[in-house]
Amino acid sequence: MEPCRIRRALPADLGDILSIEDDSFDPAIRESPDTFRERMEVFPAGFVILETPEGSAGYLCSELWDLSGPPTPSDFALGHSARDRHSPRGRTLYVSSYGIRKAFRGRGLGRALFRDFLERAPADFPFDEILLLVSRTWSEARRIYEAEGFRQVLTVPGFFRFSDGSSADGEVLRRPRVRDSTGTPSAPMMKDKELP
Ligand SMILES: CC(C)(COP(=O)(O)OP(=O)(O)OC[C@H]1O[C@@H](n2cnc3c(N)ncnc32)[C@H](O)[C@@H]1OP(=O)(O)O)[C@@H](O)C(=O)NCCC(=O)NCCS
Repeated sequence: MEPCRIRRALPADLGDILSIEDDSFDPAIRESPDTFRERMEVFPAGFVILETPEGSAGYLCSELWDLSGPPTPSDFALGHSARDRHSPRGRTLYVSSYGIRKAFRGRGLGRALFRDFLERAPADFPFDEILLLVSRTWSEARRIYEAEGFRQVLTVPGFFRFSDGSSADGEVLRRPRVRDSTGTPSAPMMKDKELP
């Protein structure tokens, strides 16, 4: 794989993030520029860009949630306010969005970004578990999550409503921060990675 690195996202990255978002999601479920700006302001350590020699290839953003029990459907809403939801002392890392530009897919970069973010995150902030929400129809993303040891803990019926009128259930996946002993230990895949 070509040398690449992950680094914190900056306001100047917003244009790239939006074009990756356009490449990655149906128009009806894309996040707004304000949502991304807010996420960067509220939890900068949880918002990263994957840079390659050919330019920005992907992004991943996240929040810390303070959950008092297992997640419920009401915990999930598209475009929810990170400012309202993020809790610096929360112990649940919620990966709110993640995508790779189409031209860069199929080279292992998506898996590398996801894995490397989760590997280095504990050095930046503490958390006990990771949650995310995926559509049943997003098979590439699901392959990554399953291989990384995530298991489904909740279904949110009809959560995703697409622009062609179709809908799909949201599947909430969870993994403890440290994978159980049956998981294959993961190794860093980036040749060069750093956060400022
Ligand atoms: C999910 C995503 C980030 C993966 O990025 P990527 O760089 O293509 O991923 P990788 O190259 O690391 O490949 C990951 C897996 O997807 C599979 N894959 C990649 N491209 C594929 C394709 N065109 N068709 C089928 N499978 C494909 C790979 O085979 C690999 O699985 P494997 O290693 O078990 O064989 C990317 O597809 C994407 O941005 N999708 C749209 C947004 C999205 O779904 N985000 C997740 C929201 S929860």
